[in-house]
Amino acid sequence: MGLLFTPYQIGSLETANRLVRSATAERMADPDGRPLPPLTELYEDLTRGGVGLIITGHMYVHPSGKAHDEMTGIHRDDLVPDLANLAQTVHDLGGRIVPQINHGGMNSLAETISEPMAPSAIDEPFLTRPAREMTPQEVETAVQSFADAARRCQQAGFDGVQIHAAHGYLISQFLSPYVNQRTDRWGGTAEKRMRFLRDVCSAVREQVGDEYPVLIKLGMEDGVEGGLSSEEGAGIVAALAGMGIDAVEISGGLGGWNKTLNVRKGIKSEAKEAYFVPLAREARRHAELPILVVGGFRSRSVMEKVLDDGFADYISLCRPLISEPDLPNQFKLGLKEKSRCLSANNCWAKEAGEGISCKCPHDRVLEKLKG
Ligand SMILES: Cc1cc2nc3c(=O)[nH]c(=O)nc-3n(C[C@H](O)[C@H](O)[C@H](O)COP(=O)(O)O)c2cc1C
Ligand code: SF4
Repeated sequence: MGLLFTPYQIGSLETANRLVRSATAERMADPDGRPLPPLTELYEDLTRGGVGLIITGHMYVHPSGKAHDEMTGIHRDDLVPDLANLAQTVHDLGGRIVPQINHGGMNSLAETISEPMAPSAIDEPFLTRPAREMTPQEVETAVQSFADAARRCQQAGFDGVQIHAAHGYLISQFLSPYVNQRTDRWGGTAEKRMRFLRDVCSAVREQVGDEYPVLIKLGMEDGVEGGLSSEEGAGIVAALAGMGIDAVEISGGLGGWNKTLNVRKGIKSEAKEAYFVPLAREARRHAELPILVVGGFRSRSVMEKVLDDGFADYISLCRPLISEPDLPNQFKLGLKEKSRCLSANNCWAKEAGEGISCKCPHDRVLEKLKG
């Protein structure tokens, strides 16, 4: 039978199955961060397609953390009614939805931020350009911005909130010994580099209360020399329950142009799928929290095995659901055993107004297969 289509829960958040739409920046918002109609349509398609939980594309908590154009905003109270419409749309169709809240830090593109900031001044080839060191006041403001954004999630009627602490965005930058060279209370030892995350989590909890589901997407390792190691990542996982976190989604990588760890290309065999499962397995040893794992899942059999083995409670998918939003139902009805995603990363929007879409040449591949 398998566990994929059995219910599960994260605190008070109950899901019909174990499939999650991992956060995917949709690029479907206006210049103020207000969601546009195609985003509503996409969430309708995903909900109708049977996914148990939608995690939205990352939303910026403060204008200084807008990572790219057309990103959805959650940085102002007047956005709450539009966000509430998104939540309502999904709920009306019986789905569940949680926004991912984020600050881009050094990984903000020139199109949005003229002078990006980071825990420490940094100028590395994998970044788009140099970033300057944040002042203590800016660190405090960022903490408060996450808390305010979490409150807006609750006010808008979402089923919870996910804090983005992966992929080289601001929280992941603070955790990283490669990026964070601060000598004040937010830098130095592993514990001090975790301080920003602790501050964010406690400020978020203070805003939303004890019962509201708070999830985190954690980069458990950076994948660069001198960066966050998986051992230190496991230490962070062990600390999450004490920070009031209800579930952890395992990921990795420092983002920027360096996509060798996360968003991997060329997943052409089952052996290349599920590439963060070794980290999830390690996380399992350090925490009793529900675990979501993302990264390269394409075959139903691989997903079922990870659940059966007990390495995770949820399987998160990004590209397969860009390609086929109804993949969960296709699995459930036995119409498919594998995503058609070619993992060639042609999904990013190339022009303003385009939004994410699947642009890999499936028809040509099919013709080739037919000979
Ligand atoms: C177009 C695109 C947008 C993404 N946006 C986000 C995002 O907003 N937040 C995030 O945590 N990860 C984001 N990711 C990473 C995915 O959530 C996921 O971790 C990664 O693609 C690996 O999973 P997959 O093999 O199922 O695609 C994005 C990936 C893609 C391809
Ligand atoms: S564009 Fe390519 S990589 Fe992206 S979802 Fe489609 S098939 Fe997958």
